[in-house]
Amino acid sequence: MRMYDLILKKRNGGEMTKAEIEFFIEGYLTGRIPDYQASALLMAIFFQKMTKRETADLTMAMARSGEMLDLSGIEGIKVDKHSTGGVGDKVSLILGPMVAAAGVKVAKMSGRGLGHTGGTIDKLESIPGFSVELSKEQFINNVNRIGLAIAGQTANLAPADKKLYALRDTTATVDNVSLIAASVMSKKIASGADKILLDVKTGSGAFMKTVEDSFALAREMVDIGAGVGRETVAVISDMEQPLGYAVGNALEVKEAIATLQGNGPKDLYELCLTLGANMLLLAKKASSAEEARARLQELVEKGAAFNKFKEFVAAQGGDITAVESPDNCLPKARLITEVKAPKAGFIAKINAEEIGFASLVLGAGRETKESSIDLAVGLVLHKKLGDYAQAGDVLAVIHSNDPEKTKLAEKKILQAIELSANAPGKRPLIFGVVTSSGSKTY
Ligand code: URA
Repeated sequence: MRMYDLILKKRNGGEMTKAEIEFFIEGYLTGRIPDYQASALLMAIFFQKMTKRETADLTMAMARSGEMLDLSGIEGIKVDKHSTGGVGDKVSLILGPMVAAAGVKVAKMSGRGLGHTGGTIDKLESIPGFSVELSKEQFINNVNRIGLAIAGQTANLAPADKKLYALRDTTATVDNVSLIAASVMSKKIASGADKILLDVKTGSGAFMKTVEDSFALAREMVDIGAGVGRETVAVISDMEQPLGYAVGNALEVKEAIATLQGNGPKDLYELCLTLGANMLLLAKKASSAEEARARLQELVEKGAAFNKFKEFVAAQGGDITAVESPDNCLPKARLITEVKAPKAGFIAKINAEEIGFASLVLGAGRETKESSIDLAVGLVLHKKLGDYAQAGDVLAVIHSNDPEKTKLAEKKILQAIELSANAPGKRPLIFGVVTSSGSKTY
């Protein structure tokens, strides 16, 4: 087999066999196939697309490129959750403890932020002492004991995805349905959970900008999960504007804590309830979505979800006082700057991707995998889509440690927010749910 022939076949619209896909993954991972040939194949896939069978074969070849975690030491149904990535997306910090308090076993491997989207692991590390490096035994013990563990992805989890993702990121080949589906599902399948809940983002801050593409991605991933006996459900949710108000690591942890205490932003809480209800259904801890929602709301209102968060933080070495008084104990930026509305109007657009980049320039995110980040910095929106602002009203507050970066972020925030004389049309928060038996559109 020759890589040249594979590139040519795909370039001309052919369908790769399972053996050819495995040849590519194995050859690229071991370094026998160079970056330039892998890039050419990725670009051919981008334009010619892949069939469902090719996508499933690529997923399994990437999943099997490293360790396949065995979670059989954890009693009960293990449910994993994954978001395709967004801005201000602190859902895992809330959802994990919420559903664990309802008896679901959550064994989760999470990633770090890259580009304009943040990562759960970075956010958790803003809690002093919190460790995301757990041995396999600690990981399994914690899930058995308290129902929840979140660890950083080990280097040997789907290593082919890691190498290919870095290449896609630099060759404009990220936003292809098959390549995203294979990337996400290879990691989820290798992580060993029995059931998978996906939060597929749609809109300006997401990889999939249109609702139609987001449903197509959801369908592809749900079918891959079903094909390997891992029941998968996908919720399609809005990322036309950031989720909640806070963007940046410690700022998002603070907002997550408020949400677990019942004082969070409406959109964030609502999304957590919808995703959580689906996780309870997957874990067979509820018989209807209504029952599951009511149970989760009660756990938040009675403090059980927040208590579970504290238990989880303590189990991973984090400082509980930081969680109990985040204002005093989480990392704090030195410079607080208000961004004011230049004119009156309705907030007609908030380009989530640009807001993500504003946070990135402040130092909250990584430009490259090697960049270090500042856990204290970021921004807090004061207005969301449809709100009205008078000239001079505060649109956002920047938390920064560098005056030059503040200026850059302010410029980006003002570019991202569009003020208009007319109120924008209402956009749903949840667009639909895709399961192996069908799709529901809201
Ligand atoms: N998230 C992933 O894990 N992979 C992608 O390709 C895109 C989003």
